[in-house]
Amino acid sequence: MSVVGIIPAGGSGERLGADGPKAFAVLAGRPMLEWSLEALAASCDRVVVAVPAGFEAAPDRIRGGASRSESVRNALAAAPEATVVVVHDAARPLVTRELVARCLEELGEDEAAIAAAPVTDTVKEGDGGRVLRTLDRSRLWAVQTPQVFRADALRSALDAPAERLAAATDDASLVESAGGTVRLVEAPPENLKVTTPLDMRIAEAILESRC
Ligand code: C5P
Repeated sequence: MSVVGIIPAGGSGERLGADGPKAFAVLAGRPMLEWSLEALAASCDRVVVAVPAGFEAAPDRIRGGASRSESVRNALAAAPEATVVVVHDAARPLVTRELVARCLEELGEDEAAIAAAPVTDTVKEGDGGRVLRTLDRSRLWAVQTPQVFRADALRSALDAPAERLAAATDDASLVESAGGTVRLVEAPPENLKVTTPLDMRIAEAILESRC
Protein backbone atom coordinates (compact mmCIF):
# COMPACT_ATOMS: atom_id res chain seq x y z
CA MET A 1 0.00 0.00 0.00
CA SER A 2 1.33 3.45 -0.92
CA VAL A 3 -0.33 6.32 0.95
CA VAL A 4 0.10 9.67 -0.79
CA GLY A 5 -0.99 12.98 0.72
CA ILE A 6 -2.29 15.68 -1.60
CA ILE A 7 -2.60 19.28 -0.45
CA PRO A 8 -4.50 21.62 -2.74
CA ALA A 9 -2.78 24.95 -2.06
CA GLY A 10 -3.25 26.54 -5.48
CA GLY A 11 -5.88 29.14 -4.53
CA SER A 12 -5.29 32.87 -4.58
CA GLY A 13 -7.00 33.53 -1.23
CA GLU A 14 -8.53 36.83 -2.31
CA ARG A 15 -11.05 36.81 0.57
CA LEU A 16 -8.17 36.75 3.05
CA GLY A 17 -6.69 39.94 1.62
CA ALA A 18 -3.10 38.71 2.13
CA ASP A 19 -0.27 39.96 -0.11
CA GLY A 20 0.28 36.54 -1.76
CA PRO A 21 -1.51 33.16 -1.99
CA LYS A 22 -3.34 32.13 1.21
CA ALA A 23 -1.38 28.90 1.73
CA PHE A 24 1.84 30.92 2.05
CA ALA A 25 0.49 33.56 4.45
CA VAL A 26 2.34 33.37 7.78
CA LEU A 27 0.21 31.83 10.54
CA ALA A 28 1.56 31.38 14.07
CA GLY A 29 5.14 31.78 12.82
CA ARG A 30 5.17 29.62 9.68
CA PRO A 31 3.54 29.51 6.24
CA MET A 32 -0.02 28.16 6.65
CA LEU A 33 0.75 25.20 4.34
CA GLU A 34 3.42 23.85 6.69
CA TRP A 35 0.94 23.04 9.47
CA SER A 36 -0.92 20.67 7.15
CA LEU A 37 2.28 19.25 5.66
CA GLU A 38 3.48 18.26 9.13
CA ALA A 39 0.18 16.56 10.03
CA LEU A 40 0.02 14.58 6.77
CA ALA A 41 3.70 13.61 6.71
CA ALA A 42 3.18 11.51 9.86
CA SER A 43 0.85 9.07 8.01
CA CYS A 44 1.84 9.44 4.33
CA ASP A 45 4.75 7.96 2.35
CA ARG A 46 4.91 11.17 0.31
CA VAL A 47 3.00 14.47 0.16
CA VAL A 48 2.39 16.28 -3.16
CA VAL A 49 1.32 19.94 -2.99
CA ALA A 50 -0.59 21.75 -5.77
CA VAL A 51 0.66 25.35 -5.73
CA PRO A 52 -0.03 28.54 -7.68
CA ALA A 53 2.13 29.27 -10.75
CA GLY A 54 5.59 30.45 -9.68
CA PHE A 55 5.67 28.39 -6.43
CA GLU A 56 6.75 25.04 -7.96
CA ALA A 57 10.45 25.28 -7.00
CA ALA A 58 10.54 22.77 -4.06
CA PRO A 59 10.29 18.97 -4.61
CA ASP A 60 6.77 17.52 -4.87
CA ARG A 61 5.27 20.93 -5.65
CA ILE A 62 3.29 20.87 -8.87
CA ARG A 63 1.26 23.58 -10.54
CA GLY A 64 -2.41 23.73 -9.44
CA GLY A 65 -5.33 23.96 -11.85
CA ALA A 66 -8.09 26.47 -12.56
CA SER A 67 -10.31 24.92 -9.84
CA ARG A 68 -9.68 23.11 -6.56
CA SER A 69 -10.54 19.69 -8.01
CA GLU A 70 -8.30 20.34 -11.04
CA SER A 71 -5.48 21.04 -8.58
CA VAL A 72 -6.17 17.69 -6.87
CA ARG A 73 -6.20 15.96 -10.27
CA ASN A 74 -2.84 17.51 -11.24
CA ALA A 75 -1.27 16.43 -7.94
CA LEU A 76 -2.67 12.89 -8.25
CA ALA A 77 -1.26 12.59 -11.79
CA ALA A 78 2.18 13.21 -10.26
CA ALA A 79 1.74 10.22 -7.89
CA PRO A 80 0.93 7.17 -10.06
CA GLU A 81 2.16 4.85 -7.26
CA ALA A 82 -0.62 5.92 -4.88
CA THR A 83 -3.07 3.23 -3.76
CA VAL A 84 -4.60 5.35 -0.98
CA VAL A 85 -4.83 9.15 -1.12
CA VAL A 86 -5.29 11.66 1.71
CA VAL A 87 -6.58 14.97 0.33
CA HIS A 88 -6.34 17.89 2.72
CA ASP A 89 -6.85 21.62 2.02
CA ALA A 90 -3.98 23.94 2.94
CA ALA A 91 -6.77 26.25 4.16
CA ARG A 92 -7.37 23.90 7.19
CA PRO A 93 -4.12 24.32 9.14
CA LEU A 94 -5.63 23.07 12.43
CA VAL A 95 -5.77 19.45 11.25
CA THR A 96 -4.10 16.99 13.62
CA ARG A 97 -2.08 13.82 12.98
CA GLU A 98 -4.73 11.94 14.96
CA LEU A 99 -7.55 13.05 12.65
CA VAL A 100 -5.57 12.00 9.54
CA ALA A 101 -4.82 8.61 11.13
CA ARG A 102 -8.48 8.12 12.11
CA CYS A 103 -9.72 8.82 8.55
CA LEU A 104 -7.19 6.27 7.22
CA GLU A 105 -8.32 3.67 9.78
CA GLU A 106 -11.99 4.15 8.91
CA LEU A 107 -11.57 3.64 5.15
CA GLY A 108 -12.46 -0.07 5.52
CA GLU A 109 -14.43 -1.37 2.52
CA ASP A 110 -15.67 2.06 1.39
CA GLU A 111 -14.27 4.19 -1.43
CA ALA A 112 -13.74 7.16 0.89
CA ALA A 113 -13.69 8.25 4.54
CA ILE A 114 -14.12 11.97 5.19
CA ALA A 115 -13.81 14.26 8.20
CA ALA A 116 -17.08 15.96 9.09
CA ALA A 117 -18.72 17.63 12.09
CA PRO A 118 -22.41 17.33 13.04
CA VAL A 119 -24.18 20.61 12.23
CA THR A 120 -25.06 22.63 15.34
CA ASP A 121 -26.94 25.53 13.67
CA THR A 122 -30.47 25.12 12.34
CA VAL A 123 -30.15 25.08 8.53
CA LYS A 124 -32.84 26.40 6.19
CA GLU A 125 -33.03 26.32 2.41
CA GLY A 126 -33.70 29.78 1.00
CA ASP A 127 -34.76 31.29 -2.29
CA GLY A 128 -34.44 35.03 -2.93
CA GLY A 129 -34.35 35.90 0.78
CA ARG A 130 -37.38 33.74 1.79
CA VAL A 131 -37.27 30.39 3.53
CA LEU A 132 -38.31 27.43 1.39
CA ARG A 133 -37.88 24.77 4.07
CA THR A 134 -36.10 23.84 7.28
CA LEU A 135 -33.78 20.86 6.97
CA ASP A 136 -33.60 18.02 9.51
CA ARG A 137 -30.48 18.97 11.43
CA SER A 138 -30.08 15.53 12.99
CA ARG A 139 -29.01 14.18 9.55
CA LEU A 140 -26.70 17.05 8.53
CA TRP A 141 -22.89 17.10 8.58
CA ALA A 142 -20.52 19.98 7.81
CA VAL A 143 -17.87 18.39 5.66
CA GLN A 144 -14.17 19.13 6.09
CA THR A 145 -10.89 17.66 4.94
CA PRO A 146 -8.94 15.34 5.35
CA GLN A 147 -10.75 13.12 2.87
CA VAL A 148 -9.20 9.68 2.36
CA PHE A 149 -9.83 7.74 -0.89
CA ARG A 150 -9.00 4.52 -2.63
CA ALA A 151 -6.75 6.03 -5.30
CA ASP A 152 -8.48 4.29 -8.23
CA ALA A 153 -11.90 5.60 -7.17
CA LEU A 154 -10.55 9.16 -6.91
CA ARG A 155 -8.70 8.93 -10.24
CA SER A 156 -11.81 7.84 -12.09
CA ALA A 157 -14.04 10.42 -10.30
CA LEU A 158 -11.63 13.22 -11.28
CA ASP A 159 -11.65 12.11 -14.91
CA ALA A 160 -14.43 14.63 -15.62
CA PRO A 161 -14.89 17.81 -17.69
CA ALA A 162 -13.47 21.07 -16.29
CA GLU A 163 -16.96 22.52 -15.62
CA ARG A 164 -17.93 19.52 -13.49
CA LEU A 165 -14.67 19.73 -11.53
CA ALA A 166 -15.18 23.46 -11.01
CA ALA A 167 -18.68 22.88 -9.62
CA ALA A 168 -17.50 20.30 -7.04
CA THR A 169 -16.86 21.84 -3.62
CA ASP A 170 -15.18 18.66 -2.39
CA ASP A 171 -13.75 15.50 -3.95
CA ALA A 172 -16.04 13.09 -2.10
CA SER A 173 -19.05 14.51 -3.97
CA LEU A 174 -17.45 13.39 -7.26
CA VAL A 175 -16.89 9.88 -5.84
CA GLU A 176 -20.50 9.81 -4.54
CA SER A 177 -21.82 10.74 -8.02
CA ALA A 178 -19.83 7.85 -9.47
CA GLY A 179 -21.64 5.47 -7.08
CA GLY A 180 -18.85 5.20 -4.49
CA THR A 181 -19.66 4.82 -0.79
CA VAL A 182 -18.32 7.47 1.58
CA ARG A 183 -17.93 7.05 5.35
CA LEU A 184 -18.33 10.01 7.72
CA VAL A 185 -15.61 10.35 10.37
CA GLU A 186 -16.63 12.67 13.22
CA ALA A 187 -14.07 15.47 13.51
CA PRO A 188 -13.71 18.39 15.92
CA PRO A 189 -15.33 21.65 14.72
CA GLU A 190 -11.95 23.20 15.64
CA ASN A 191 -10.61 21.89 12.29
CA LEU A 192 -11.85 25.14 10.78
CA LYS A 193 -11.26 26.52 7.30
CA VAL A 194 -9.36 29.80 7.04
CA THR A 195 -11.19 32.07 4.62
CA THR A 196 -11.33 35.53 6.20
CA PRO A 197 -8.94 37.63 8.36
CA LEU A 198 -11.13 36.71 11.39
CA ASP A 199 -10.56 32.97 10.72
CA MET A 200 -6.83 33.72 10.59
CA ARG A 201 -6.94 35.29 14.07
CA ILE A 202 -8.93 32.37 15.52
CA ALA A 203 -6.61 29.77 13.93
CA GLU A 204 -3.55 31.60 15.22
CA ALA A 205 -4.93 31.68 18.77
CA ILE A 206 -5.69 27.92 18.69
CA LEU A 207 -2.26 27.01 17.24
CA GLU A 208 -0.48 29.15 19.81
CA SER A 209 -2.48 27.54 22.62
CA ARG A 210 -1.29 24.08 21.43
CA CYS A 211 2.42 24.97 21.73
O1 C5P B 1 -10.93 28.74 -2.10
P1 C5P B 1 -11.06 27.68 -1.04
O2 C5P B 1 -10.68 28.18 0.33
O3 C5P B 1 -12.37 26.96 -1.08
O4 C5P B 1 -9.97 26.60 -1.43
C1 C5P B 1 -9.85 25.37 -0.71
C2 C5P B 1 -8.45 24.84 -0.97
O5 C5P B 1 -8.26 24.57 -2.36
C3 C5P B 1 -7.35 25.84 -0.56
O6 C5P B 1 -6.34 25.15 0.17
C4 C5P B 1 -6.87 26.38 -1.90
O7 C5P B 1 -5.49 26.76 -1.88
C5 C5P B 1 -7.08 25.19 -2.82
N1 C5P B 1 -7.26 25.57 -4.24
C6 C5P B 1 -6.42 24.99 -5.20
N2 C5P B 1 -6.57 25.34 -6.53
C7 C5P B 1 -7.50 26.23 -6.91
C8 C5P B 1 -8.36 26.81 -5.95
C9 C5P B 1 -8.22 26.45 -4.61
O8 C5P B 1 -5.55 24.18 -4.87
N3 C5P B 1 -7.59 26.55 -8.20
